[in-house]
Amino acid sequence: MSKIIVTGGLGYIGSHTVVNLLEDGFDVVIVDDLSNSQHDILRRIETITGKQPEFLQLDISVRDNVMSVLRRHSDADAIIHFAASKAVGESVENPLLYYRNNLNSMIFLLEGMQETGIPNMVFSSSCTVYGQPDKLPVTESTPFRPAESPYGNTKQICEEIIRDVCNANKNIQAIALRYFNPVGAHDSHLIGELPRGVPNNLVPYITQTAAGILPELRIFGDDYDTPDGTPVRDYIHVVDLAIAHRVALRRLLDRRQKNNYEYFNLGTGNGYTVLEVVKAFEKATGVQLRYRIVARRPGDVEKIWADTTLANRELGWKAERSLHDMMKSAWEWQLHLRDHPELLGS
Ligand code: UFG
Repeated sequence: MSKIIVTGGLGYIGSHTVVNLLEDGFDVVIVDDLSNSQHDILRRIETITGKQPEFLQLDISVRDNVMSVLRRHSDADAIIHFAASKAVGESVENPLLYYRNNLNSMIFLLEGMQETGIPNMVFSSSCTVYGQPDKLPVTESTPFRPAESPYGNTKQICEEIIRDVCNANKNIQAIALRYFNPVGAHDSHLIGELPRGVPNNLVPYITQTAAGILPELRIFGDDYDTPDGTPVRDYIHVVDLAIAHRVALRRLLDRRQKNNYEYFNLGTGNGYTVLEVVKAFEKATGVQLRYRIVARRPGDVEKIWADTTLANRELGWKAERSLHDMMKSAWEWQLHLRDHPELLGS
């Protein structure tokens, strides 16, 4: 049985991926500092899968912590590295926190891999590396644009670090997955996104507005060059994303890579405007949403969606869940949270 270390395994995408790995028979070790999750998510993963993964509550921006985990589990076959700070606005206010957390953890994990011989890594990257591309949809060869935020910069730098390390050390194999906009929740409604405070992202903002927690959705601008003037994104169901991690992992374990460092766009290939998302939510749930158009949000790109040809062909993976499915499951998760406010912490 392959053993996989999952950093950030109790987070939003991490927890869905852990469920998928456990269901597929992998032995999983979760490392998470609970800075953006709750211990109860572990219990919920166990409820869904009937399995009990090992859990280590550790901050991996501290070198000794990383080394102790990797030495103890030097028989691991791979690391899936989710753990990172991810709020764009917070990264602008506190850049050092982002550079420390996101870069240190990457450097220490790669050092630990070199020392212990753990050969494989799957890394959480983001479409943020592309900024606003000139040509749409974006392919993996679309060049990086200067990052809009320290958060985005850490994703670019982490990819560059992995590339350089893979160049220098052919014993290390890595795949970076560039996520578009992950939304939705697991079918069980036992795990999902746990936004801290007022959400920044569109879908949790929509569901909290619909639940009456927030008074109205503010739509940031309707004067973009898009079909209805609101920005276009490629929303992808978190369960599809979780499956892509397992598939990428198998590619590494089966040594099917073309190069020891590869990167793939993970989206559906469909772009939707903010207003289309609002309409899809209303249709999927029967709930009317209060919304208002306000000024543009600084730093927002106008439109972006993925060319997923490479992931479809090389990984043999395709996102299958529709925008309707995403909205329905996001709403069901919001209803579950209403009955379990303890999940959002104190
Ligand atoms: N939006 C609103 N109102 C809100 C929240 C969002 O109108 O209350 C709009 C945004 O303006 C944007 C769209 O909804 O047009 C999506 O916004 P999100 O914040 O959900 O997602 P972003 O595309 O801005 O952010 C995502 C990831 C980030 C990443 C960024 C890179 O969440 O981690 O893409 O572009 F850095």
